[in-house]
Amino acid sequence: MIDLDAEPVTVRVPGKVNLALGVGPVRSDGFHELVTVFQAVSLHDEVQASPAESLEVLVEGEEAGLVPLGSDNLAHRAAVLLARRAGVPPAVQLRIRKSIPVAGGMAGGSADAAAALVACDALWHTGLDRAALHELAATLGSDVPFCLHGGTAVGRGRGEMITPALARGRFEWVLALAEDGLSTPEVFAECDRLRTGREVPDPKVSDGLMAALRAGDPAALGESLSNDLQDAACSLDPRLHQTLEVGRASGALGAVVSGSGPTVAFLVADADDALDLAVSLGAAGVCRAVRRAYGPVPGARVLPGGAD
Ligand code: C5P
Repeated sequence: MIDLDAEPVTVRVPGKVNLALGVGPVRSDGFHELVTVFQAVSLHDEVQASPAESLEVLVEGEEAGLVPLGSDNLAHRAAVLLARRAGVPPAVQLRIRKSIPVAGGMAGGSADAAAALVACDALWHTGLDRAALHELAATLGSDVPFCLHGGTAVGRGRGEMITPALARGRFEWVLALAEDGLSTPEVFAECDRLRTGREVPDPKVSDGLMAALRAGDPAALGESLSNDLQDAACSLDPRLHQTLEVGRASGALGAVVSGSGPTVAFLVADADDALDLAVSLGAAGVCRAVRRAYGPVPGARVLPGGAD
């Protein structure tokens, strides 16, 4: 039974940066075994779920035109999956307001899927617990469970097995958004190509990085940032070398391509340094846009009041 008078539910969901991303060998299912440390940052999308006769996805925001509206849209798939699991019709209008870059290595699509799960769960009163939502999230994509979870966490397996990490304080980030997106499968394939003939060890999390997080020490964290996909992302988009260079030369404590890129994340000491770096990146013309953010922040959450 569809309740067309139900109040809309709005969910806010953060993007992520990978503080470390260790990529291991390819598994028999085609995914790479990995160990990553995610941090959710204050660049958010919002997904509003409203009652409707059928499933409809609308996308608003700067890059809305780049987001598919049909069954390729991860939020669409999330609604279908949840409806099937809960035994209800997938009748909902999902209005997505995007601020997380599209195909930017910040889990934008995964974030929308996590938000759609939480929003539809509330709209349809499915009564599923967090563990069930997590299981559905993992089916939708490797980063979706972390987007539900938020904070700072270690991801293992293909990234979907999440363990919370101890992190003290707040870290300031400057994000350089690139002109064009990168396809995650293509970046993984490029990583494999660059490693051809080399032994690939099992990935590990660095003790130094975990200690820097526990201590809330941005200088130490900056030195520990790492990403095994960075060379592959830079190989596919060589402009990223320059972006990284400008940030390092302008006083960033650390610089890393986020996930499969092409967003570059710079860790800075404080708000003043964030502003200086944002100005330097803008002046050098090495990116499409610059955003400031902090982390960690919580994962997908229903906004009080339901609507806007
Ligand atoms: O899980 P998700 O749909 O986000 O993954 C997108 C693509 O990224 C996969 O199809 C795969 O090509 C690649 N991938 C991978 N190993 C992982 C995660 C993703 O090879 N651990």
